[in-house]
Parts: sequence; structure tokens; C-alpha cells
Amino acid sequence: MAALLAAAPAPSVNPIDPPVITVDDLPFADLNHNGRLDVYEDYRLSLEERVNDLVNQMTDEEKAAYLTGTGKPGNDGLTNVVGSVEGRVPGAAGTTLAIERLGIPAALLADGPAGLRIKPIRENDTNTYYCTAFPVGTSLASTWNTALIESVGRSIGSETKEYGIDVLLAPALNIHRNPLCGRNYEYYSEDPVVAGKIAAAMINGIQANGVGTSLKHYAANNQETNRFSVNEHISHRAMREIYLRNFEIAIRESKPWTVMSSYNLINGTYTSESRELLTNILRNEWGFNGVVMSDWYGGYHSLQELVGISSNVAAQVGAGNDLLMPGMKEQRAAILQAMQNGTLSREDVDNSVKRILQMVLQSPIMQKYNYSSKPNLKAHAQVTRDVAAEGMILLKNEGNALPFTDTSKSIAAFGVTSYAFISGGTGSGDVNEAYTVSLLEGMSNAGFKVDEALKAQYIPYTNKVKTAEEERRKKLNKLARHLRLIEMEFTQQELEQLAAKNDVAFITIGRNSGEGSDRVIDNDFNLGEDEHRLIDGVSKAFHAKGKKVVVILNIGGVIETAGWKDKVDAILLAWQPGQEGGNSVADVLGGKVNPSGKLTMTFPIKYEDTPSAKNWPGTPAGADPDDVTYEEGVYVGYRYFDSFKVKPSFAFGHGKSYTTFEYKDVKLSAKNFNGSITAAVIVKNTGKAAGKEVVQLYVSAPGKTMDKPVQELKAFGKTKTLAPGESQMLTFTLTAKDLASFSEQQVAWVAEPGKYTVKAAGASNDKGKTAIFIVAKEIVAEKVTPAFAPDKQYKDIKP
Ligand code: BGC
Repeated sequence: MAALLAAAPAPSVNPIDPPVITVDDLPFADLNHNGRLDVYEDYRLSLEERVNDLVNQMTDEEKAAYLTGTGKPGNDGLTNVVGSVEGRVPGAAGTTLAIERLGIPAALLADGPAGLRIKPIRENDTNTYYCTAFPVGTSLASTWNTALIESVGRSIGSETKEYGIDVLLAPALNIHRNPLCGRNYEYYSEDPVVAGKIAAAMINGIQANGVGTSLKHYAANNQETNRFSVNEHISHRAMREIYLRNFEIAIRESKPWTVMSSYNLINGTYTSESRELLTNILRNEWGFNGVVMSDWYGGYHSLQELVGISSNVAAQVGAGNDLLMPGMKEQRAAILQAMQNGTLSREDVDNSVKRILQMVLQSPIMQKYNYSSKPNLKAHAQVTRDVAAEGMILLKNEGNALPFTDTSKSIAAFGVTSYAFISGGTGSGDVNEAYTVSLLEGMSNAGFKVDEALKAQYIPYTNKVKTAEEERRKKLNKLARHLRLIEMEFTQQELEQLAAKNDVAFITIGRNSGEGSDRVIDNDFNLGEDEHRLIDGVSKAFHAKGKKVVVILNIGGVIETAGWKDKVDAILLAWQPGQEGGNSVADVLGGKVNPSGKLTMTFPIKYEDTPSAKNWPGTPAGADPDDVTYEEGVYVGYRYFDSFKVKPSFAFGHGKSYTTFEYKDVKLSAKNFNGSITAAVIVKNTGKAAGKEVVQLYVSAPGKTMDKPVQELKAFGKTKTLAPGESQMLTFTLTAKDLASFSEQQVAWVAEPGKYTVKAAGASNDKGKTAIFIVAKEIVAEKVTPAFAPDKQYKDIKP
């Protein structure tokens, strides 16, 4: 029967020979109006057979429509009654088309990545639909703990499923090319291995619930300025090693149901129109077999251009961009026209339709999953509290200023964000959570005493500046960039009094940013004068009385630290740690949790030290902000700082602990590389507190026949909690591809011959322990397809 069905052109249930099974035999199936079972619901058949059956029954009009979503409420979208976003789950970002005639339901897609984003309140409904705001991407990645991230994914996936969503539009793993990118908070790292592995863990966790994910934004979506139209000039090598490697790792180590193409162009081609990216590389090379969807209205310079324009649609579908989101009626008409005039092949259309059907047929909606709208928010609050604490990075801790354990002592809490804590960034990555625990609440929940008079001064001030900022933003485009809140001023005398009656000063420095605009250098990357005055004044007054000053960074991306870090005793990088943030900070400051986070990006001494600073949209002043040259090539982040000998303020991989660790010698499985090599390292807790250590494995290649960064991270692992004196061995296996760089001449991943050094260390700038092995002959690890022909003459920089 199966073979017959696969070959049959039209409705494949033979009317004379009705199937003998009943609906009771198949848990999710319905009988059709003829009282029989539709083939696509016959779960004894393979998914492929069921999908083929549906495609064979679809008309051209239905196929054309099926390749677009059903519009976005409020954006002149299409209205599909059955699958309407507003109808089923208000606040979802989009849906696939429902085809009632064939019984195909609409699959619902909603944003992440810091949790599920839906509307928390519904009309005429007394129930609430809040979701857990988990820490932002930078925070999650800073744990370097893939098992923990997978468990966070399981919680996020369960909220997704229990609120009736089929696919979560997450994770987001674009490379932190420059600290000013407004969406870095959603992303993981400047390093593709960290980004890829964290994303894979997240996907595996979310999808374990039977819902899908969308790995985004594919690829090289590294700035928000002119995000619909920015053309990036990137070398084939930099694409392969930096901007694709993260996606490659994630795709190979998890199986995301979908991938979201990005808004930008690469070397003159929209990613959503690039067959090289979407078909040759993603599908043929990496084996991805899910759906590619466009980012919302992606592939057009502007919405005005989209309406009435048809050429791009055929290019997108032809390239392998199956689903155009959120969907416009003009796109449907254009696809139909392109199918009929032959600009779009029927094979391409059918393949895309099949991939979408395959996704929908696996979705909870297809299985009539009876979602509760009551996920376990209480359990997830504990998950977010724990992961946020593990993502915090102790940047500095002079004279063991932390932990601060004595609850009888009094804290003077400075900084508006101590009172108006920022749990996450803005835009589609902003979760609608029921509450946020502020730093102050967290400290008092943990039994700490704060200066009540200072608090009474701060709260009305904070409310006033917050309201003014909200008013300002309301008047502007909703995606306009954030202004930070200006700090309250104190006289030196006031500060001296505060220093006299309190035991320690906490100063929180906050930043927020998000989708639609990038950050700026002054008053954002750099601290403002008001913030410098606060740090200076408080440090002077408290140090004069022998009391410590602790800075808490409540930020989503990198800021300047070199100009003020010496003035304070300790710095805790708390990131934007989700709704339980204040409790998580208190867990770390109070010593309940020993910090074990490490930086997944470099903190430069000054913004101008960033390798892409000269090539940022609109730089130098007057340059075309639609045109960006990735001249730094593979020298992104620490690859640049180490190879060009530029000193950072805090190096990639850095992060302190309340204990100390010792690395024993690295043992290699062989002296000569032969297909793979394994490195083993023993790490011992040599301090007095229990703690975990992130072990980073860097490889330095000979760099004789190839231009190579001084060192590159190739693997990492995290110990369990080690008691004082306890040791653990971690092992890492490296393959030829791990040693290889991308050779543009050979269009292949090539490992040069010679002497390689493996270093196991707690930070990129730690000496750690090293071992050496030899690659006897050049190894061509993998040949790939040519791609990314340049559209501009320039050369990547070299050290
Ligand atoms: C964002 C995506 C998001 C989509 C749907 C776009 O503007 O770039 O990350 O998933 O909107 O909300």
C-alpha cells in the first residue's frame, strides 16, 4: 500500500477499497467527511508518503499561498480565519497557512530567544499568559555549560508547547562582530565554537518537547543599522570560519526544524535569495532537511518595495527559502505568476511545500495536542534563577571583596538600575514576564540590609527618569534606540555620610538595547560623565573609610571598563539575567553560588581597538551606511587581539571564582596526528570554596603555509562542582577539520603540516598547560562548493 500511495498522482485512497482501520486505532486522526481516514493522517504510513499525498492534492493556488505565512496583525497582512495568530495565541509572530479543504492546520510560530513571547493578557479572558523571562543569550553562553543550557531549553520548549505554539523562533547565534550591535544581547559569542555548541544544546532541549525551533539569523546578521538593506562584503574564508561555522556546528549537533534566513545581503545577494547559502551549503553540505523561512519581510529594502514587486519572490523560493514570513498577498500572486510563466520551477515549489508540510505534520497542532496554557512557571523561575547565576562573571575581585556574606552589615545601593533592574533587551526578543526581581529585592530576599534612606531617595528619582524616557520613546519610532537613565547626583558630603553609616557600596551600571538600532559609542559603550562621577565619588568616600566598592554590570553587551575598573574593588558582570535577576545576583554576591561564568567575547580597552571599528555602518562619518566591508576577515574578537598584540581590558574566556583551580599536564593520545587526537587534562580545586571551572582548549597551528590566528578555541568543557581538593579529568577530541582553516584557493578545509600546540586553560590569556603534536602532511579535511564571489575589491587584513 505504501508504494502505491507514493506513486499515486491524486487523492490516493481508493474509493472502492476503504481502509479498514478506524479513527480509534490512530490517536490523532479524524475521519473525513466521507467517513474515511485521510491518507495524511494514516500514521502507519511514512511522513514522506503522507506529505506526498497532500502535495498531490493541492492546486497551484494553494501551493503558491502555502509558501507564505498568513500575515501579521496590524501590518496589512492576510487573514486566515482558521490559523489566525490573534485567534489562537495572541502575540504569536506568525502562522503557516491552514488549508481547511485538506484538513491541514496552521502551525503557530512565536518569538524567543530569551523565552516565549506572546501577549500576557487577552480580551474577555481573566486568565493570564505570562512566560518566563530567561537570561539573555550572552548570559546563557557565559555559563559555557551545555548540559545546563539544554535543561533551560527543555523549560522554554515546555512553555512553547503548553501555550499552543508549534515553533519557537530561536535560538539566535550571530557572531558578536562589534560591541555596538544592538542585538548582541540575544546572541552568544564572538567565537563560532561557543555560539554553535550553545545553540545546539538549546535546540536539543527545546525540541525534546516535540516543538520546533528556528535557528536564526542565517547568516552574518551582525548589525541593526539599515538591517533590511545592508550589503556586507565578506571573504569566503571569513564566512566559512566565522559567520557560518557557528551555524554549521549547530546544524550538525542538533536538528532544528527550521532555519531563518537573515535580512542582510552578502556580497550583493540577499541571504534569502542565495542558493549557495540555503541549498548548496545548508542542505547539500550540512544535511539540513527542514524548512528555511525568511525573516519578517526579509529580502526587500522596504515594505513599500515589497508590495507589488514580484521578482524577488521567485529568487527566494528558487534559492531554497521555502516560507516567506509573515506573508503578503502580493507574494502569493507573484509566486503563482512565476510558477505559471516558468521563472520558478514546479519542482522547487513542490520541494518547499513538502518541507513545510513535513514540519506541520510533526507539530503539536497536527497531533491535536491539548495544551494547558498552564506551564510550570514556578519550576521555571528556579531554572532561570540558577542559570542566570551561573552565567554571571566575576571580572575582578581585589582583596576578596566578594562574597559579601554578613547579613548584619549594611549596603548602600547606588545606580538607577539597582532599582529599575533590566531583565532583558528590547524588540522581538523581549519576553512578557509576570514580574522582575530587582537587585534590591533580591538582596532583601536574601536577608541583606540596604540603606533605606538612600532607597527612599532613589525610588522617586528612578520613577521620574524612567517615565521621561518612556515618554520620549513613545513619541519616536518604537524601534528607536534606548537612552540610558541618567544617574542621580550626590555631593561629596552626602557620599561621606553614606560611607560612614554603611559597610559596603554597590553601584549598578545598566544598559539596554535591541532590535532595529545599534548602540552608540558615547554614553552607551562609554560611560557617561554622570556615571564616572558616581563611581569616582562613591569610591573615594567609601575607600577613605576602608570600605569596599562593588560594581554590578546589568548590561546586554560590551561596555568600556578600562577607564574605571581600577577605582573599584570588585566587578560582577550580571548581564541582563532574566526575571529572577535580583535573586540570582544576590546568590552570587552573597556567596550561595560561586561564580563560574567566563567571557564569551573580548572587552577592549577602548572601542577603537575593536577590529571592525573602522568598518562599521556609517564609519568613517559620511560613508554609505548600507555598505559594510568585513575587512578584518577571520580576525574577529580574540583572534584579532592576540594576533595583532592589542591588549584587551578583559580577555575572552576570563572569569574569576571564589576558589582557585590548578591545571595538571595535558596528555595527548598520540604524538602524531592520525585522523583525530584526544587531549586529557586534570583540573583540581586548590582553594577553599566548592566551585566549577570552564576548561578551554585552544589550538595554535604552525602558521607557516597558512595565515593563522595565534590561537583558536576548538573545544571547551565545564567541571562538575568540585569540592576543595577535588579533581576531575576532562577529555576533548580534535578532528582534522578542527585543525583546518579554509583555503580559498583549494575551496577546502585544509590542515597545514607542522607542529601544533594544544593549550588547556581557564582563559584565552592564561598560560594554562600545553602539549605538542605533529601533522606530518597537509590534510584536506573537506572539499566544499565555491561560494561568495566578491562584489568589491579589497583584501582581508593580516597581522
Ligand atoms: C526579527 C526576528 C523575529 C521576527 C518575528 C524580526 O524582525 O529579526 O528575530 O523572529 O521579527 O518577530
